[in-house]
Amino acid sequence: MISHGSGRSLPTELPELRPEEYRLLRDLLGEKIGHAFNEDHAREFERRLRPRVSACGLSTFAEYHRHLRGSPKREEELQTVYDILTNNETYFFREDYQLRSFREEVLPRLERDARHRKQLTCWSMGCSTGEEAYSIAMVLLESGRFDGWSMRVLGTDLSRKRITFARRGIYGESSFRSTSKERRGAFFVSTRAGTRVCAAVRSLCQFGQLNVMEMKNRCTIDQVDAVFCRNVLIYFTPQARAHVMASIFERLRPGGFLMLGHSESLLHDPGPFQPVHLKRDVVYRRPTERELRSKREGI
Ligand SMILES: C[S@@+](CC[C@H](N)C(=O)[O-])C[C@H]1O[C@@H](n2cnc3c(N)ncnc32)[C@H](O)[C@@H]1O
Repeated sequence: MISHGSGRSLPTELPELRPEEYRLLRDLLGEKIGHAFNEDHAREFERRLRPRVSACGLSTFAEYHRHLRGSPKREEELQTVYDILTNNETYFFREDYQLRSFREEVLPRLERDARHRKQLTCWSMGCSTGEEAYSIAMVLLESGRFDGWSMRVLGTDLSRKRITFARRGIYGESSFRSTSKERRGAFFVSTRAGTRVCAAVRSLCQFGQLNVMEMKNRCTIDQVDAVFCRNVLIYFTPQARAHVMASIFERLRPGGFLMLGHSESLLHDPGPFQPVHLKRDVVYRRPTERELRSKREGI
């Protein structure tokens, strides 16, 4: 250790992540965010979290684990860890075939079911920097079905930093790899800071930080018509995935739809969801009370 001006000691040697320290960190973080970390992740943890051990003025990963559990600054540090360890890959109109199916085959049903209340809520869960939520809002506007309706698209993510980014709505080129010229012209404006989502789309979207593992205690959102939870649960343990699925089911309106990423099929075990085979995609629906009763009574 060396000492700097203030008299505090700075660690000089790079800490090594010992197997028992890895297990402690993996269990702590896995439990908090639901991700499955196996033995293969140990080297990645060591490489990515090592600078944080030093940045917190600590010497070992065991101390860092205690810091993440008990320090008054733990929430702040956990946010940094989530940003370091989780994948934030996203772009506008990702998996566009699904958004097309949503527009052509799901929205007509939702329009019919909600025609009296004229309200529609969609939710991009694990929205990263916001491109997915804005894409959903653009699809709602493009559909031309909801003039005069009260519509909102919620975007939530584990990472506060990504949510702050989403709220600004300003994006670089890599977010547009799947956006047509027409859509770019219709829904974006050029600003000095970059290409910004236009005001009409932004006004439909609301963003907030939310860990999907904490929905039970921390989230009052319910009666949602459509949830998009894409490319999020692939990283989760089977138990955590089941926990999140149950929370999504509760928050969907009866008759509401769940859209998952292309590699996240529920077909082998849809649980209480009803798989709906569309022309290009399979989505999942919360059955209505009436449908459940008919099923129970074998009608
Ligand atoms: C690969 S991005 C997917 C973004 C977008 N859904 C898409 O498909 O383009 C995964 C996002 O899930 C978020 N995420 C991971 N674990 C989460 C959790 N426990 N609660 C909420 N969001 C989580 C990450 O922060 C990240 O932004």
